[in-house]
Parts: sequence; C-alpha cells; structure tokens
Amino acid sequence: MKIPRFEMERWQSEWEHQVRFNLGESGVFPLCLSELVPAEERNALFETELAYLQTDGTSGLKESIARIYPGAAPGNILVTTGSIEANFQLLWHLVEPGDRVLFMRPNFLQMQGLTEAFGAHCIPFYLREPDWTLDLDEVNSFCEQGVKLIVVTDPNNPVGSVLSLEQRKGLEDLAARTGAWLVVDEVYLGAELDGNTLPSWWGAYPRTIVTCGLSKAYGLPGLRVGWIVASPEIIQACWEGKDYTSISISALSDKLAVRALQPEKREALLARTRDIIRTNWDTFRAWMDGLDGLLTCVPPRAGAIAFPRYHLDINSTLLTQRLMERKSVLLCPGDQFGLDGYVRFGLGDPNARFGQALEEAAEGLRLIRDELA
Ligand SMILES: Cc1ncc(COP(=O)(O)O)c(C=O)c1O
Repeated sequence: MKIPRFEMERWQSEWEHQVRFNLGESGVFPLCLSELVPAEERNALFETELAYLQTDGTSGLKESIARIYPGAAPGNILVTTGSIEANFQLLWHLVEPGDRVLFMRPNFLQMQGLTEAFGAHCIPFYLREPDWTLDLDEVNSFCEQGVKLIVVTDPNNPVGSVLSLEQRKGLEDLAARTGAWLVVDEVYLGAELDGNTLPSWWGAYPRTIVTCGLSKAYGLPGLRVGWIVASPEIIQACWEGKDYTSISISALSDKLAVRALQPEKREALLARTRDIIRTNWDTFRAWMDGLDGLLTCVPPRAGAIAFPRYHLDINSTLLTQRLMERKSVLLCPGDQFGLDGYVRFGLGDPNARFGQALEEAAEGLRLIRDELA
C-alpha cells in the first residue's frame, strides 16, 4: 500500500512556522491551558498519573461525548487522537480494494487519499456556487453502479457551507436506497456564524457514522482529541485498528477534554469561536470590498475559514507560492481541496496581526495582478 502525499498538510507543516503571516490555518486561535483550568484547580492536574488509559476512551470522556449526540451511549463512541485518526480508523476498517466511494468536493482531502491508498475508487461529487449546494441527481447517477460509502464534510472545509436539511435528507435517502455508509466529518459543527448550532447528522439514518473532535469549533487542536460516533460493532472494529496506531490518547488530554465538554464550558468555548469568526468575517468582507473585485466569496455559514474565488489568470498553487515569496503570507491553494481558482483564508486569529496579514495579502495580490497584466 502506498499512501499519496497529503499536499495540504505537508504545505502547512513546511511553511506555517516559516512565514511572517499565517492565513493558512483552518481553526480558531487555540486557547491556553490557563484559560481551560482555573488557578485553584491546577494543583489537582499535577496529580494526574501519566499512564496509558482505557484504550477506547475513559468512561468519563465517552460519556461526555455521548451526551452531545441524542440517543448515543458510551458504547457508540471511540476516542481517537484527533479527528484525523477517527477518519483514518474508519476508512481503514470500511474500505476494501475495488469499492466505490463517493466523496464530496471541495474538501479536506484526507479521506480521498486514504480511499485511494486502500485500493478503492474515489468518485467526486461537487458542492457548487452560487451557494455551495449539491446536485442530488448527479450524486444519484453515481450511485447507480453501487456505492460502499458516501463521504461528506459538513460544515464544509474549505468553503464553510452547510447543507440544508432537505439536502441532508436527500443524501440520507440515496444512501438508504443503496445501503451505503454515510460518513460525516463534523469537526466544524458548533462554529456556525449565526449562532444557531446545527443538529448532528447522527441518528437519522442507521448507517450514518460521524467523526468529530476538539480541534476546530472548540479551539483545542493541541489536545489531539477526536472521536467516532457509530454502532457498537463499528466502534469495536475501529478500536482494534487503534491498537496498531495510537493505543490511547494522553492522560492529560483526557482530563482536559472532559473539562472542555462540561455543558457550560462547552457552550462558552463554542461562543468564543463564534465571536472570533463573526468579527473576523466582517473584517475580511470589508477588506475584500477594497480589492476592486480581485476576490469574490460566498459568505461562509460555519467554520473559521473563507474560500474566495480569485479573478486572476493563474493556478492556485502558483498564486499562493508567489504570495509567500513576495509577502511572506501563507494561504492554502484551492488545488489542495480539489478545486482550482480559489484560495482558503483562515479567519481564526483574534489578534491585530490578522488585519496586518490581510494588508500584506492585499499588497501581494495587487502586485501579482500587475505582474500578470
Ligand atoms: C474537515 C477536517 N477533518 C479533520 C481534520 C483533522 O483535525 P484534527 O485531527 O486536528 O481533529 C481537519 C483538519 O484540518 C479538517 O479540516
């Protein structure tokens, strides 16, 4: 088995600590440990035994996660090292050579790379402008030859869109008709700009499997805590895979994750995220208006990201490379999400440097426009 290079992750790993302005980040600015643990409770944390934990997740953490999903019990939860491991374990278990896997695009391409590595066929179906909706007839036409999995990221990375409840139902009906698994990455759920938290996809269709984690909507990427919500059979099978990869999450992360998921704390973390992205989206929109039509963007509904189309005659990877060379500003090219002609901006930084980064980006984009003229 040969795993294709995960271009977006590699791009970020190589450059995010080298550039002066990082607008390539996909999550909200992370919290400090001190914001999660009040001073009077810190000593107790120092007594944490740095042991291996129950490897599918401690009962306390599984209960905290199960509480988020109506009808779920701890037996429906597998705790993983980030949602990236949740996606990995799931596809490792479900995908076999020759399977047909329908894959939403644009998207975070981890599950596409894994599908290909496991010898299956990845068939893209597209969210399309003007409002990033699906053509269910198109998806249906791909189902006719059979399909094992339908893979969705909702809210979507990179476009920040949310499928309507009708489109959701449409996909569930298609999955039901073909008996496909519906795999939904919900790592951005809870980061809705308008404050109306969407319901999880969990529970409406028996073969829906949800992956999620604390990295994006909760602002805690460094905890490396994710999870799968699925039937107990799927959970057991994925747990066996985990014996080969990460065994258990860290003991400190377990304690901190339980704390983050206490109902009041959870609400406060999600509210913090929404505040940051609402403010930054307003800044971003005003900034874009000053660019003489260089960028146009469907407003994101959720997530700490915006995915504008640029009106320049250049490939997105070349554009972002030039911007980095000229201005030391990091963006992610649309190519890395399976859709050229766009670039992804991170909206998660609450500090003044967000505005500075946008100013630098504007200068760089104008410069590149003049170079191309
Ligand atoms: C849609 C999506 N899923 C999963 C991940 C992995 O996140 P983590 O492992 O930090 O939870 C990312 C990271 O960018 C993502 O955008």
